Amino acid sequence: MIDIGRLYSDRAGKMRKSEIRELLKVTQDPEIVSFAGGLPNPKSFPIDDLQDVVHNVLKNHGKAALQYGTTQGLRELRESIAKTSRKDGMDVDADDVIIVSGSQQGLDTVGKVFLNPGDTAIVGLPSYLGGINAYRSYEANLTGIPVDEEGMRIDILEETVKNLLKDDITPKFIYVVPTFQNPAGVVMPESRRKKLMDLACEHDLVIIEDDPYGKLRFDIDHIKPIKSFDDEGRVIYMSTFSKILAPGFRLAWMISSGELKRKMIICKQALDLCTNTFTQFIADDLMRSGSLDLHIMKIREMYKPKRDIMMSAMKQYFPDGYKCNKPKGGMFAWVTLPEGIDTETMFLDAIKNKVAYVHGKAFHVDGGGANSMRLNFSYSSDEQIEEGMERLANVIKQKLEANKAVA
Ligand SMILES: Cc1ncc(COP(=O)(O)O)c(C=O)c1O
Repeated sequence: MIDIGRLYSDRAGKMRKSEIRELLKVTQDPEIVSFAGGLPNPKSFPIDDLQDVVHNVLKNHGKAALQYGTTQGLRELRESIAKTSRKDGMDVDADDVIIVSGSQQGLDTVGKVFLNPGDTAIVGLPSYLGGINAYRSYEANLTGIPVDEEGMRIDILEETVKNLLKDDITPKFIYVVPTFQNPAGVVMPESRRKKLMDLACEHDLVIIEDDPYGKLRFDIDHIKPIKSFDDEGRVIYMSTFSKILAPGFRLAWMISSGELKRKMIICKQALDLCTNTFTQFIADDLMRSGSLDLHIMKIREMYKPKRDIMMSAMKQYFPDGYKCNKPKGGMFAWVTLPEGIDTETMFLDAIKNKVAYVHGKAFHVDGGGANSMRLNFSYSSDEQIEEGMERLANVIKQKLEANKAVA
């Protein structure tokens, strides 16, 4: 038998499976109500509209749409993205946009461009697991900064950055999801965004602003991205069609400029040559016709009541002592349970009771978050949310009883 492991690179040897992807396997069981994955609701996919668009793309652009494209991405789509980005407050033109095969590829590209083994990067506590995994695969040391109801704590960030610099450690970047954060669901207000930008300028740091959920807002006005306060090209902004159209398209974009943008394009050349050309044409058609904006409004209308059902079911069924702020948009609610409950071990009980979530520790680079969990409200039907929350409440109650018995 070949001992393949001895041939692996140090990097591959240290790679760990993604907890979320493993969990998604368990939740394939149709009897399980899954609050685990970050999945859009499949009913939101605009299948009928897409049939016409696919037909038109093939008819009008068939030869180009089925051909390799440039690594930076389809010019027309980059123009459409630049146009909406300007509406959102960013000073962007098509040259600043790189189309990527999912934001996940963008995160990996960032890791590849910036991180040597042992380098330090800064993430939130909690933080998006896919980001953590991407940076860890480049053997980075991840320093966590607590996230409160208004996102990353800038006061603690400032102190941490100063201490790192004092020790001659330059953090390579600060990774933030400022709007409807995955997993905590919180929004960083404009004042904090500006402070973060000022801090980055003062200490010559780079910010990775990951924004898949900004458009999925229910009861809050648009907040300008951090990138819109960036006059020095130190923010790499990224967003995706995954949550506003379809993750199966594997289509997202990054916004940056100058030398950094060129470096990322070179990096992407080795990753995939180019992003799916066909879906780029489709997305561009949807953006130009205005259908995507209408579609986003429909998604908001679909998800807002789901959020409400989840929140009121929580109130109705959960035992006292939990904490959960109502998310103003996005796809996730973040729940903190009483101390002493370990949501990682409770997960097995939850699965037995046919309900799933992601335990909080998975999102913490410091081993914290043991009594917290992330609940997705976009994927399940309204009835499943109600039923699933009742099941989950029972699992929590049993756990509390069991803990009491031991104490
Ligand atoms: C914060 C965040 N970044 C990136 C991604 C990856 O998105 P994509 O499907 O574009 O790769 C996700 C997906 O859930 C996410 O929540």
